[in-house]
Amino acid sequence: MDKLMISGGRPLHGTVRISGAKNSAIALIPAAVLAETTVTLDNLPQLSDVAIYGEILSELGASISWHADEMIIDPSGMRSAPMPNGNVKKLRASYYLMGALLGRFGEAVIGLPGGCNFEPRPIDLHIKGFEALGAIVTNENGALHIKAKELRGAKIYLDMASVGATINIMLAASRAKGSTLIENAAKEPEIVDVATLLNSMGANIKGAGTETIRIEGVDTMHGCRHSIIPDRIQAGTYMIAAAATRGDVTIDQIIPKHMEAVTAKLQEMGVKVYEMDESIRIVGQPEYNHVDVKALVYPGFATDLQSPMCTLMTQSSGVSVLTDHVYGSRFKHIPELLRMGAKVKMEGRSAIIEGATLSPARVHATDLRAGAALVIAGLTVPSGRGITEVTGVEYIDRGYDNLVENLTSLGAEIWRETIKE
Ligand code: EPZ
Repeated sequence: MDKLMISGGRPLHGTVRISGAKNSAIALIPAAVLAETTVTLDNLPQLSDVAIYGEILSELGASISWHADEMIIDPSGMRSAPMPNGNVKKLRASYYLMGALLGRFGEAVIGLPGGCNFEPRPIDLHIKGFEALGAIVTNENGALHIKAKELRGAKIYLDMASVGATINIMLAASRAKGSTLIENAAKEPEIVDVATLLNSMGANIKGAGTETIRIEGVDTMHGCRHSIIPDRIQAGTYMIAAAATRGDVTIDQIIPKHMEAVTAKLQEMGVKVYEMDESIRIVGQPEYNHVDVKALVYPGFATDLQSPMCTLMTQSSGVSVLTDHVYGSRFKHIPELLRMGAKVKMEGRSAIIEGATLSPARVHATDLRAGAALVIAGLTVPSGRGITEVTGVEYIDRGYDNLVENLTSLGAEIWRETIKE
């Protein structure tokens, strides 16, 4: 087990290049199952979840090869084998195998995802979609058994604009007979990325990125090459870190439109933001205004940037309010920030944040975005105050490839140490 050691007070300077989106990659890899011939995905992030998904597809008979940041998937030899345990329990997004295997083979047995560290994350809407398409779904010993003699298109209304449910239903409906309408669909860029891949494979999907998606099922799908969109959450994390350390950082290889909500909030705080075609430059300021932030579904402020933003908001004057309307209890980073001298009170799903100077402490990350918030907090501690130690690095590594290397190249004093048992 590792921990991150951070000596703060050094404004970040320079350019950081953003890799492919984690939350796209872990949907695009299972989506390749629907093809009969080779799918090549490039701009893949170097993350453990990606490697685990490669192992899972191999276990199902796919042949997987890697070339730089490309993953080459030949799904021709695949079959739908039961996967009640094992690797599927290591990552939450293994549930995308349900839609993919159901779409290609008409059946799937997948272990339910492990618990998440900020709140229960049901998949009832995924199941509602599969059943609407004609599948029988049973929960046996913690694994979902999903089977359909024939998948038929249906009209499905999502009670919540769920990213996972939208993608999972798109996967299964791609090969259903007839047309499927998903209403109140999620509109995140990752949904568009998956629909783009599926259409390149021969699917017929319209409306991805809007709240209504229409899918005309097709009999067969083929391979293609697809480049993954940049990771907007990773990009937003570096934007926030640049502002928090009062640095001057260019975040490169991104789609600025995907960053609109965080750009707007940083500007409201007084951060200087310069947008170029494929990059954004952040210039931090000595003083920040307090702001109110609401984490919402896209295009609202991303819940995955809520915890890093919370750290930045401790650096503003006055009182700020941060409310998460997606996950009401995604605030496990707050007690850790309090240990660093932050002044935050919780009121329901809102954090009331006063300005404070942070001091070093030993803190623990309980999920990957909380980990990012704590790393930014360590960077924000004024110099000469000592070292912040962040444990739970295994969570951070799931969402941020090359974090220590990138921050070091931006001038941060951060390094890994192995925790002596
Ligand atoms: C995706 O999770 C992301 N994960 C999450 O990122 C992200 O926080 C979330 O979308 C919201 O943007 C991946 O893409 C792998 P949801 P997902 O279904 O699909 C409720 C990260 O840090 N809901 O959009 O699981 C749910 O409880 C991770 O990278 C149901 O009630 O999120 C939540 O309140 C964390 N029933 C809301 O909908 C369901 O069947 C949004 O969840 C599904 C969801």
